[in-house]
Order: sequence, then C-alpha cells, then structure tokens
Amino acid sequence: MASLLIGSNPLIRMALLLLTIVTMTERISFVVEARDLSTPGYGEEAMKVRHEKWMAEHGRTYKDEAEKARRFEVFKANVDFIHRSNAAGDKKYTLGLNKFADITRDEFTAMYTGFKPVQAGPKKLLGFKYENITLSDDNQEVDWRQKGAVTGIKNQGQCGCCWAFSAVAAIEGLYQITSGQLASLSEQQLLDCSTNGNNNGCSGGVMNDAFQYIVDNGGITTEEAYPYTEQQGMCQSVQPAVTISGYQNVPAEDENALAAAVANQPVSVGVDASDFHLYQQGIMTADGCGENINHAVTAIGYGRADDGTQYWLLKNQWGETWGEGGYMRLQRGVGACGIGKQSSYPVA
Ligand SMILES: *[C@@H]1O[C@H](CO)[C@@H](O)[C@H](O)[C@H]1NC(C)=O
Repeated sequence: MASLLIGSNPLIRMALLLLTIVTMTERISFVVEARDLSTPGYGEEAMKVRHEKWMAEHGRTYKDEAEKARRFEVFKANVDFIHRSNAAGDKKYTLGLNKFADITRDEFTAMYTGFKPVQAGPKKLLGFKYENITLSDDNQEVDWRQKGAVTGIKNQGQCGCCWAFSAVAAIEGLYQITSGQLASLSEQQLLDCSTNGNNNGCSGGVMNDAFQYIVDNGGITTEEAYPYTEQQGMCQSVQPAVTISGYQNVPAEDENALAAAVANQPVSVGVDASDFHLYQQGIMTADGCGENINHAVTAIGYGRADDGTQYWLLKNQWGETWGEGGYMRLQRGVGACGIGKQSSYPVA
C-alpha cells in the first residue's frame, strides 16, 4: 500500500529523492571531516571550511585577512594536536575544537588564567579545621551541585581574575551550606576593591587576599548589585550581603586533606591550566599537564570512575561551552596539574 502510494505520488517521490541526496551529502561531508582529522595536512580547502564553520559556531570575527590567515594557521595546528592526542587512544580525556581553538597554548594561558602562587615564605598559622576528619566509605563521592551549593557556570572572559571567581565560588558554597540559601556573589567587587596583598585586578591575584579583603570589608555583595564587567574599575561602596570570619589553608600536597575539606565545603584550588586549553571531556590526567600553578578554580566534589580512576570535580569559569558544561574532572591522588599545592577555603 505504501509503495503504491509512493509510486503514484510524484510529490512524495520527489521528497524521498531529496532526502536521499541530503543523507548522502551529509555522509560525504562526514567522511571529508574524518579524513581531515585522520590525515593532518590533508585538504587545505576542507580545513578552511572547518575553520569557517568553527568561526560561525563561536561568533568569531577577525579584523582583516592577515589576522584570519594567522588564526587559520593556529587553528590547523590545534586540529593536528587534538587529533594526535585523541588518536593515541591511551588517554582518559579527549580534546576538542572548543572556543579557544584559534589561539595558541601560550596566548591562552596569558589571557584566561591569572593565579599568582604565593612564594613559600614564613607561613601564617591559620589552622586546618578538618585535620581530624577521616573519610569513610560512604564519603567516596561528593558533588556540591547536587546539594544546591553551586551557582551556574560564570565566565571571566579576557581578564586574569580567576582568583576572584574561585574565592567567590567557595564563599557561595559556604554560605549555602551555613544558611541554606544559594546567592550569586560579586567577583567585580573583588576585582575593583581587593587590591590588597598580591591582588592586581585582571593581571592576577590570590584567593587568600580576596578572603582577607572580605573579612576587612565586613562582607561581599551580590552579583546583581555589583555585576561583572570583565575589567577593573573604581571600587564602589556597596552593602555587604554575605560575611566570612576568615580563611584557612589546606596542608599543601596532601590530597587526602583536600578531600576532607571538599567533603565539607567547596574549596579554592590553584592548578596549572595551560593544558586545559582544548580539554573537552573525561578525566584530565597528570601526563596531560604541568605543575606550575597559574590558574584558580573551585573543587566542588570528587568521585571515582568505573575504571577506578579517582578524580576531582572542578568548577571553572570559562563559560559552559568549555569542558564538561563548564566543569572538569581531574585525576585525584597524584598531584595532577599541580592540584593540592595551594588550596584554601573561607570560614563562616
Ligand atoms: C584534632 O585532634 C587533636 C587531638 O585530639 C586535637 O588536639 C585538635 O584540637 C583537633 N583538631 C580540631 C580542628 O578539632
């Protein structure tokens, strides 16, 4: 009956023919893309198409043809790098053509990080309130998102104030845990006003000096009252919404201590993010990155993958299109990407 209908209706026949053509075209372009990736250097034209497609996807424009040509070369090198990393087949993570695909690793690090690790010197004795906590078996998984203590993914943009985002995310978590209320708080206030200690606006800073500013200032206001502008401005006088009494450091290079802290609240952590550049998904492992911490994120949990690999759950602030919806899983227990070197948390 159906074939009779098709056979007798020229409109349906035409539609079927079109569908077949469309399907075939899709297959062909898929094959071209696959060959592109499997044979680096293959098909300059196809690669150009790929670049254009990527530009459209990410709303990227260039000021002139010279800039576009330069960026195209970087794009190609990144495609090649992604291919080689993924094709190796021995990694727990995959890289991908994310929004940073037309800048180099060095440009990326210079533009989107901003943590200035404090040189080891005379240490202030702040205590570690979780020192006696031992994690039990039912503490194998922690995800503060499931407990409503994590605000949506934010985006620092081209301003090296990861330190402000990391400090704010830790305070947002603490505030939710102590008050039951989730409030998005102001990175801009820290960017403009926390110029104490090592903090230097978009040129970098540290979370502890941000915490200290909030203690001295008598609190921090909301994101809504003092929204983010991606650049440092004049410090405005605002009504504090959330206060903290201080902060503490997690003992360095002790990921069990870090886990004890993270089991109790989201924690600000320094990491080496240079190789987070093209991270797309999976568990980033120590072999994929260095240990010179230059970026700050927030540890919002930890867990164990099916193959037994333990990982940290990190909240980043490069928008939702980076990584796993803005988050990353990072191997736990081996100091991967420098995690554990400098971690701290606010105290209510
Ligand atoms: C941890 O235990 C020791 C020994 O009992 C005690 O002196 C110390 O105060 C405890 N630390 C905290 C933060 O409770």
